[in-house]
Amino acid sequence: MTATMDPARLEQVLAEEEERYRRRTPRSAELAVEGRRSLAGGVPLHWMGNWPTPYPLFMGGAAGAQVTDVDGHEYVDLCLGDTGAMFGHAHPAVREAMIRHARRGATAMLPTADGNAVGRLLQERFGLPLWQLATSATDANRFAIRMCRLATGRDKVLVFAGKYHGSVDETHVVDVNGRLEPQPGVSRNAVDFDRVSAVVEFNDVDALEKALAGGDVACVLAEPAMTNIGIVPAVDGYHDALRELTRAAGTKLIIDETHTISTGPGGYTRAHDLDPDVFVLGKAIAGGIPAAVYGMTEEMAGTLTDYTRKENHGSSHGGFGGTLVGNALTLHVMRTVLEEVMTPAAYDHMIGLASRCEAGVQEVIARHDLGWHVTRLGARCEYLFAPSVPRNGGEAKAARNPLLNATLHLFLLNRGVLLTPFHSMVLMCPATTAADVDRHTAALDEFVGTVLA
Ligand SMILES: Cc1ncc(COP(=O)(O)O)c(C=O)c1O
Repeated sequence: MTATMDPARLEQVLAEEEERYRRRTPRSAELAVEGRRSLAGGVPLHWMGNWPTPYPLFMGGAAGAQVTDVDGHEYVDLCLGDTGAMFGHAHPAVREAMIRHARRGATAMLPTADGNAVGRLLQERFGLPLWQLATSATDANRFAIRMCRLATGRDKVLVFAGKYHGSVDETHVVDVNGRLEPQPGVSRNAVDFDRVSAVVEFNDVDALEKALAGGDVACVLAEPAMTNIGIVPAVDGYHDALRELTRAAGTKLIIDETHTISTGPGGYTRAHDLDPDVFVLGKAIAGGIPAAVYGMTEEMAGTLTDYTRKENHGSSHGGFGGTLVGNALTLHVMRTVLEEVMTPAAYDHMIGLASRCEAGVQEVIARHDLGWHVTRLGARCEYLFAPSVPRNGGEAKAARNPLLNATLHLFLLNRGVLLTPFHSMVLMCPATTAADVDRHTAALDEFVGTVLA
């Protein structure tokens, strides 16, 4: 019979782990008190308050696959800044590039030779012919949507239930019995979702066809496999259907590879031969410096450049970009990441370790008969508290268990293993070792043994 996790026992373990955390982290406790005096919510980004700890863990430093807290404890970092540090903390090549370019100046509103090299490297790696920069994946998605609206003259953005693409207003939507509402926890922000959004379940070709039939959808914004509600892989044939249906409806397709870049050096797009109109990648692309890129077809680039060309405007904004976008420092670091860090050899190492992690977690699940499952997308693993791989966001959401998640994550953190706070994602970087992976597997096993005892 499948083992069940008793909520009362989980509460008890959570309380014990909170106590343990308080004993281990006196310096973080002091800094948390200090932080509350000047930062709203005590942290510079409210997400940093969302770890399952009684107060935030303050970082002292980080190198490779390791984070050290301000009390001197070391952690195997499998969160990796929720993907921003997917190529490791303070990677030697990235560090040297930052130092080298710091001496040449950061930003001047002038293009650099590094920018040309970045364009060429992105073209070769991902296949799309023309590129632009942004400062975050959120912004890149906003610009991609704007471009699709210009190209089609339509307003609606279609997303998949359970998605996350950054703080992009139109995407913070749920379908409540046929009405589009802001998703729980996000304010409406004056958005008329019925006019500008559409939402369907992933992997449902009929629902997609129906949603596109009105001819009013500017673009589908999709991760090629969902990663923000656990991993939801695309079923066989879904991407072909998605591309055919969007083309037939005159709808543009944006593939957001911000997380699925874990698949391989060319992302899911190259590994599965996808053919999007726009391709978005952020987070790790400049080794942790805020940056993102979006690639586009010649046709989409024509739309963008027609619209933004200088004769067209009294203003040079055009709704795209930002003062620090494409700055010289970022481009130099991004070039280094593309040339020296995101290499096939680095991916071979990361994917090998992720396979080891997958096998270890699978063994723990089977031995304790937990009725969970683990999925891997290249260098990224994810375990979900349900026996089978979800087919869509709705199924993945039903497998969530916030109490179990919080207790597990705090237990692991107290044993020197960091997982991203939002779900059970386990990510490898080039500096991760087999011993790091095994430490996570052993701590997971210990957790399960403790809760089931
Ligand atoms: C798929 C995807 N796209 C975009 C974003 C937004 O990235 P950022 O917060 O760096 O803007 C995220 C963030 O988690 C994401 O998962």
